[in-house]
This record gives sequence, structure tokens and C-alpha cells, in this order.
Amino acid sequence: MSSVNKQNASPDRKVELIDIVIDGKTVQAEEGSSLFNAIKWTGVELPAMCYHYSFSPFGSCGLCLVEVEGKKNNVRACTAKVIEGMVVNTQTEKMVDAQKAAVAKHLKTHPLDCPVCDKDGQCELQDMAYDLEVYDIKEGKRKVIPEDTRAVALDFNMERCILCGQCINVCKEVQLVDALCFYKKDKAKHVGAHGGETLDCEFCGDCLAVCPVGAIVNKFSKYTFKPWQLEKTETTCGFCSDGCTLTLETKAREIKVVTSELSYTSKFGFDIEAGDGHGGICVRGRFGFQYVMSDKRLTLPQVKNNGEFLEIPWFKAMIEIAKRLNDIKAAYGGDAIAGLISGRCTNESVYLFQRFMRSVLDTNNIDTAARYGHMNSVLALQETLKIGGATISLQELALSDAILMVGSDFTETNPITALRVKASMAEYGGKLMVAHNTETKMLKLATLPLQIAVGSESHFIQGLVKAVLSKGLADSDFIEKQPAAYTALKSAVAQIAETVVSEKTGLEWEKIEEVAQTLALSKRGVLLWAEDIVSKTGAYQNVQRLIDLALLCGLFRKKGAGILPVCEENNEQGAVDMGAVPEFLPGQISFDLEDERQRFESAWHATLPSTSTKRPGLSLPEIIEAAHRGEIKALYLVGENPLGTLPASMKVREALEKIDLIICQDPFMSETAEVADYVLPVATFAENEGTYTNIVGDVNRVVEAFSPRDEVRPDWKIFSDLSKNLGHPIQYRAVEEIRAEINTLVPGYYRQDKTMQIGDLSEDFARHVADRYKTEESKNTDTTITLSLQQSLYHSGKLSTHDENLMEINSKNFLQISPADAEVLQAETGDLINIKSAFGQLEVKIEVAEALPKGLVYYPIHFNDPPVKDLMTVEVDAKSKTIYFRSIAVTLARSASLDLKVIASEKALQEEEKENKEETESSAKAEQT
Ligand code: SF4
Ligand code: SF4
Ligand code: SF4
Ligand code: FES
Repeated sequence: MSSVNKQNASPDRKVELIDIVIDGKTVQAEEGSSLFNAIKWTGVELPAMCYHYSFSPFGSCGLCLVEVEGKKNNVRACTAKVIEGMVVNTQTEKMVDAQKAAVAKHLKTHPLDCPVCDKDGQCELQDMAYDLEVYDIKEGKRKVIPEDTRAVALDFNMERCILCGQCINVCKEVQLVDALCFYKKDKAKHVGAHGGETLDCEFCGDCLAVCPVGAIVNKFSKYTFKPWQLEKTETTCGFCSDGCTLTLETKAREIKVVTSELSYTSKFGFDIEAGDGHGGICVRGRFGFQYVMSDKRLTLPQVKNNGEFLEIPWFKAMIEIAKRLNDIKAAYGGDAIAGLISGRCTNESVYLFQRFMRSVLDTNNIDTAARYGHMNSVLALQETLKIGGATISLQELALSDAILMVGSDFTETNPITALRVKASMAEYGGKLMVAHNTETKMLKLATLPLQIAVGSESHFIQGLVKAVLSKGLADSDFIEKQPAAYTALKSAVAQIAETVVSEKTGLEWEKIEEVAQTLALSKRGVLLWAEDIVSKTGAYQNVQRLIDLALLCGLFRKKGAGILPVCEENNEQGAVDMGAVPEFLPGQISFDLEDERQRFESAWHATLPSTSTKRPGLSLPEIIEAAHRGEIKALYLVGENPLGTLPASMKVREALEKIDLIICQDPFMSETAEVADYVLPVATFAENEGTYTNIVGDVNRVVEAFSPRDEVRPDWKIFSDLSKNLGHPIQYRAVEEIRAEINTLVPGYYRQDKTMQIGDLSEDFARHVADRYKTEESKNTDTTITLSLQQSLYHSGKLSTHDENLMEINSKNFLQISPADAEVLQAETGDLINIKSAFGQLEVKIEVAEALPKGLVYYPIHFNDPPVKDLMTVEVDAKSKTIYFRSIAVTLARSASLDLKVIASEKALQEEEKENKEETESSAKAEQT
């Protein structure tokens, strides 16, 4: 038996195990590790309230007392370190009495307001008292401290606080946020924000999860349940691609709280391995559950009649929709039908959708949200290496010795995977290099922060490729096995001038070389790229260059090394894997591979849409173009809302007006649903069964917490019903049957231990290398301000904006602007300014953000009020057909209303001065008389 500390367990570190004796048994433990862990390995559960596997022991609760031979006083096992020859006794009468006394001491000052405490029945202090049989609660002095309800989401009840410090430690050591501390107020010790200010943090709720008592309280659900009344359903979060496992705790079809492993697994029984996550979830997963119960949900199918929506029974809606689809197919052929499905649906629903569209409606015009960016990564990786996603696991990410992150604001988009990156640096000693235009939270933490100029990503990446080659750092295996590719790359980058790279990026060449060297010489390097690469102009080529860099650094060859192309929505990767794009059948199999087509045709008992028609299948921008031309007669939208997402310059409304039949399947009425002919209410993740595929390709289970409300149905059932009404029944009794079918057609998709099969470098690789290293100019100049649509930590697409809890935490539809630009405008946070692009202008409130450089302004992509997206232009990538609309040049000006405000405040000031003067004069007069 042996015990090793997770902390510092880097794969590079040799662990020394030594013998110690615990309760008469000899065990092996890591020298210097916590004695608590070593004892736990023997099967003894010591009482404990302040120890947690995720962070350093604090030793405050005084419960984990043991005897160590040679020590006069009792020893706190959590803070004691294992040393050679130690002899420890845990179960002596003296120890049990000491543990009892420690519990009794806590109880003396505790309010014991259990009847109104949310933790009642799940409280560690109650458990300790019960387990240690502390029945005689001595009269003590109760602390009287008013509850601190100033923050959003969390209330602090300091009467109940046992000062264990876990909340502070999880925030500081796991989140690396450090938002909490102990502070003194009115002679009492409090936990809260530094300086006793109102807490304004990331609201991940980890502090709430680890609090052993009811001192930190969930504001959104307090006093509404008792823990034992709640039914627990372990499922997968429906927001971002991190795909966290979470537990929906429900009472009578209502989600009361969302918890995760962190809430339940502390010191007891959870033997984690190095690189494992801490089991927490983020603000979206923890608090964004209200939308499931929202009374704004769609509950019955609706049909448009004379411009008004009327409710309609399901069977009638199915018959009508099927008839109209059949008529359109008969009159115009399958090419006149198109479908878009969101990256939020389960794999099983996406699979069925594409099967339905292809085999029943005879169309390959299908696309998904990955067309907003992630398809660049998928297609470039497929073209080069025949892979279509990340090549590392989350554990490998945490244990990496060097991570280069390009174009990612990772703590905002993927806060829980971001913790693995933080752990790689803070716990395992890895190097973190972050290249971004703004001073992101990750960039601030990085070992090598690289704040590069706006729009210089391509120069930065090209510079890195050049530096690896010019410094002779290229992977010897790559040089040996791919001589033509190596020579082509070398000659392609020869013309790149170091001075130009430095000038464009704002980084010294030596810095570029340092990054290149760190990644190339790493043992387990990881290259991560995200939205600011894949959803902005030139993305496809930038991804190709990043793949070049990874090849040159041996990242596809070294064990534990790899790439991580980040996608946004919870099942964006799965939607591509399941074939909801015209390029691929399920399994990312090329749509035009004859053998594979036959395999699917025979499984589906149908003929696939032809590849010899004038078009092999339309992508999202092509569907909208075809609709403009009047060629699309029916559009089936599943969770997609092009009107609410795409800029006005794409004229989506005009395109939709030319379509005869629009079907919208959504949990909520959306901008696009408003113009649809049929609106079908669908289940949310909490009412659904199936799987989601996360950022690294793990397939995670989605489990129904309660059956769909009202008349709501899961997506897959609707496709199945429609297929029956269309005369081509594709029927399943349960999601498991769809899963079994996917497993047959895409063998191993659900296997959790799959290893990525990286194909050979394509033959064309060397031939096309030169194209992506041609000299190019940055589009931005000093006189331009760039507006960028960005994601926020508190939201996920538009879905989260339907959630009252998340909107209460953050609904700031402010334009973020640098202090320098604010100064030029003489404006401050809350002021209205005018923002203008070549496509329009509007007024928007600003927020001054220190992290932004001069010349860059951000607007949260989640909000359309004001419709800042309509200032954007749209560009379609010639190769990947991806739509770029997140960045544009703008000018900013003080708004007329801001000037009016200033005039008004000046006037008010003058009037006040006048009044003061009159007052002084009149009191002087009064004194004289
Ligand atoms: S909610 Fe998260 S970030 Fe905020 S104080 Fe608690 S642990 Fe820290
Ligand atoms: S608030 Fe909870 S976790 Fe924080 S110190 Fe108090 S008891 Fe411990
Ligand atoms: S939103 Fe993402 S990071 Fe947050 S809990 Fe859900 S899956 Fe995890
Ligand atoms: S002092 Fe060791 S668990 Fe609290």
C-alpha cells in the first residue's frame, strides 16, 4: 500500500517512498507528503473539516488528531508531513477524546440554526458530532453577525463559519483567483472579499461547494429545500465544450441546485491521479439552471396563421410539416431543402437529424454551428493528418511541461479546462505561454506573457515557424520521415523577415525565439488555439501554420504532447463527428467516398443524395446565398437562430422571406422562430438523454433529470415522428437504440480509452506549403479601432441569456474600451458613445477595461441589444466556407446624449453653486440683522 501526494506529482519527478507504521501496520508513503493521505490509504477515515485533496492543508479545524511516537502533543495529521520511521496511532481513546473535544468546541460557538440552514442534513459539523457521538452540547457564546447579502449569487452567513479556510484556499490555489480572505469586522472574523468589499469574482461557486457548513449560501435557492428532499441526477453540462459532469438536484421537477464532485468528495474516498481535475464547475454550470424552468419556454407546437402563431397538437403539426416537405421535395427535389442544427443537441439527435435529412429528404444541405469557426480546425487537420480534433486528454493537458495558447481567452470560454492549464503551471511546474491582443487573465498568469498587436496572429505564428527552423530546433523524426515537407517549410519561411514579425506583433525577435525553443524542446508540449484564431479572417491558413508548428515541434509524435483546437458549444465537436456538415458522413468520413456511402446506404436502407448533382451539399453561408436566389424552399432549423446570430449585412431576413417553409425547433422563441411557419418546443439538456462530445473528444452521458415538461419533446423523437409521416420511418424506442446504431457505423466512438490515430502527412503537403507563407500585410493601422465580438465567462451563446440567474450575475451589454481610448473620448464607464462602422452606427454604453489595449474594443457576442453585430461585415473563407463576422474597423465618438449629459451636469453644477451662493448671502444678511 502506498500513498503519493497529487501536489507536485509531475511525471518528471521521482517519487521516493518510505516505510512508516500506522496503527501497527507498515505502509509506504511519499516522504514529505501529508500524513492524512497516508492514513487514509490504510482505510482509516479520520474526522476532518478543513482538509481537502485539492489544495494545501490548512490545519485549522483541529479534528484530525493522531499520536505520533516521540511527540508530546497530539499531531494534526493533515499538516504533518510523512517522515522516515514515523510510528502513528489514530484510534487510541485519548485521540478519540481529543477529536470529540474539538467538535464540542466548534459547537459551542455555532448558532445551531439547523432548521433554517440549507446545509442541514449534509453538514460536516453535524456529521462529525454524530460520528464522534458528541451528544452533550455545552452552553457557549453564539456569534451574532448579520448575513452578508451584498454579492450576487452568494450570501455569507458568518455566524455559521467555522473558519476552516477551505473557501479561501480553493479560490487561491485551484482557481488562482484569490478573491477571498479572512477579515475582521466588529471584533469578529469574517470571510469575504479583500478589504471587506462586496464580492465581485468569477462566481464559480467552488467556495460554496467546499464549505463544510452552511456559511456560504446559494442565493438563488436558499430556504427552498432540505438536502434529503432532492433527487440527484449526474449528467453533463449543456453550455460549453468543457463538458463538465454535474449533478442536478431536483425537487418536484424543479432544479434547486447544481453541484458536482467537488461538493461531495473531499477528504474521504476520492483517490485522484496526477492531472485529474478538481471536480468543480463554473458559474454557468452552477447557477445557469433557471432557464429550464422558465415560464418563457415554448410548451406547445405552434403554426403561423395569417401572421399569428396558433397552438397546434403534435400529431397535426407532424402531418402538416411532413406533407409540405413532401410536396417541396416532389416539386423541386431534395436540393431545395436545407437544415441547420445547433452544436448543443446530443450526438444521437444530430446523428438522426443528418440521417433524416439525407436519407428521407434527399438533401446534403446541412450544417452546424462549427461553421462559425471550428470547421477551420477540423478541415485543416483532416487535410493534413486525417484527424479532426484534439490529440490530447485533459490529464495530459494538466501534466504538460509547456503550453502555448494562441488566440484564446480560455478562462472566459472554457473555465474548467482552463483550470487544467493553471494546474500544469501552478501544481506541476509547466511553462505557460499566452499570446493574445489583450491582457487576459491567463496572460497575466503566464510564465511568458505575449501581448501581441491586434491582427498580428498570422505574423506571430509564421515567426514561430521560422524561429523553430532557423534555430535548428525542428523535430529530428519529422526531418527524417518527411524530408520534402521539411525542405518545403524551410524554403517557404526563408523570405519572412524577423524585423517585420517584430514590428507587426510588437514582440522582440528574441521573445519569439524563446517561445519557439520552449515548445520545440518540451517533452509534453501542447499547442492550443481558439476563437480569436478560428473565427477571424485568415483562420484556415493560420490553423495550417499552427499544424506546421506542431509538426516541427514533434507534438504529434511525443507521448503526452499534442494539440487542442478549442470549440465553443457543448457538442460542437460531436455535431461535426456525427456528420451534420455537407463534407462528412458520421465519423468524419468524406461524403463522396463511394465505399463508405454504400455502407451507410445499406445501413439506412436508403439512397444518399448524389455527389454528381451540381452541388455536393451547401454549407451555412451557401444555404443563405441559395435562399437569396430563391433556390431554397424549405429550411429546417434545430436550435439555430441565424437572424439573431448573423449581421444584418448578410441580409438573412430577406433570404428567409424567400423560403416557403421554415420549421424552427427550439426551447425558446427566437428572432428566427418569429418568422418561421412552425415552431416546435424541445427539451433542454435536463430533460434529455444522450451524449455530448467535449473539447478533447470524450463522449459524456446526458441523463434526464425529469421528463420533458408540458408538450415538449426531445429533438430525436421529432425527427423520428416526422420520418414516419413522410413515409420513411426511422424509429427507435429509446436513445440507446440510436447509440447502438452509431456504434456500429462509427466503431469505437463511445469508447473512452480511444487513442487518436494520426494519419500520414498528405502527399500534397509539401506542394502547398509555400502558399501559406506569402508575405502579407496586417489590415489594421494605428488610426483604426477594431471592434471584436467576444465571449463572456457568464454566458454561453444566446442560451444563457434566457437564464434569469446568469442575467442577474451579469447582463452587462457594455462596450469594453481601453482607458486610453476612454480618455480620448473623455468618457467613463456607463457613458453612452457612438460607434460607427461601414455598415451602420449606434449608441452603446461603455465600460473602461484595463485589460484592453488602445485601439481594441469588445462587445459581448451574447447580446443583441443594442444590435452591435449589425455593425459587422461578413466574409466567407474560400476554403472552409467558415463565416467571419467577429471583427471590424470602427470609429468611436462622443454621443450627442453624452454631450447633453455633460451640459446638464454642468448646468446642475452652476445651479447648485448659485443656490449655495444665495444661501450664504442670505445667512450673512440674517447674521447682520
Ligand atoms: S465563487 Fe469562485 S471565484 Fe468567487 S470567491 Fe468563490 S471560489 Fe473564488
Ligand atoms: S465560509 Fe465555510 S469554507 Fe469558508 S472558512 Fe467559513 S466554514 Fe470554512
Ligand atoms: S459551462 Fe463549461 S466549464 Fe462551465 S460547468 Fe458547463 S461545461 Fe463546465
Ligand atoms: S486540522 Fe486537519 S482536517 Fe482540520
